[in-house]
Amino acid sequence: MVDVLALGQIRKSYNVGTPVETEVLHGIDLTLAAGEFVALMGPSGSGKSTLLNIIGLLDRPTSGTVSINGQSTAGLSESGLTALRGHTIGFVFQYHYLISAFTAAENVMMPMLVSHGRRTDAMQDVAYGLLADVELTRWRDNRATNMSGGQQQRVAIARALAMNPSLVLADEPTGNLDSVSADGVFDLMRRINKERSTTFLIVTHNLELARRCDRILDVIDGRISGQEAGRLSAPA
Ligand SMILES: Nc1ncnc2c1ncn2[C@@H]1O[C@H](COP(=O)(O)OP(=O)(O)OP(=O)(O)O)[C@@H](O)[C@H]1O
Ligand SMILES: [Mg+2]
Repeated sequence: MVDVLALGQIRKSYNVGTPVETEVLHGIDLTLAAGEFVALMGPSGSGKSTLLNIIGLLDRPTSGTVSINGQSTAGLSESGLTALRGHTIGFVFQYHYLISAFTAAENVMMPMLVSHGRRTDAMQDVAYGLLADVELTRWRDNRATNMSGGQQQRVAIARALAMNPSLVLADEPTGNLDSVSADGVFDLMRRINKERSTTFLIVTHNLELARRCDRILDVIDGRISGQEAGRLSAPA
């Protein structure tokens, strides 16, 4: 089976060509198989978000290779990257970035609208289905602002799934939530991972949550240093 993600010797420098040029990723190799649920941990400033942005095709590495579902991204133009990103990758951030004037369902429809250019009835059906999956059917026609932080983050997860991505990248998705809501959001991602075989890569500072993943990757000073087995692959 083709890996969902393959990184080869990824290096990233900021401020290239200036006196303050700094390399923050120093040759990262990583593969994620279909259906994996992986935590990315590491100290502040170690390069986790930089790496996620490169994997998510939001930023290009200074050198090294990124392949998504076996497709090399090296030769792609900006519009080629945008199209590939839109159809294969979903994003969840620490802050949900929902549009407050829109309902939950309208927010979930946004990626589909952007992709198709106009609204169709099918989009609403897909959004309602996803909101049912994240247990928000009762709230689907409510404005996003009228919902709790945990509910808003579940809408954001439904939105990330709207284009049926093979990979969901989540950068501290529970960072703004109390521990009960964080638990619920993490469980939800795990359930979706099991039900749909969607691959997840989740940045978290919470070791307890990370231990529920298949693997824990540690980013230390721009390198992946350790690969601990998560709870599910550890002996009982
Ligand atoms: N746009 C940028 N320009 C210059 N330097 C940057 C830029 N973005 C990040 N950096 C630097 O790159 C390094 C890695 O930052 P990054 O945001 O990837 O860390 P992180 O592991 O996500 O940290 P945190 O846990 O605090 O979110 C840091 O030293 C940071 O200052
Ligand atoms: Mg970060």
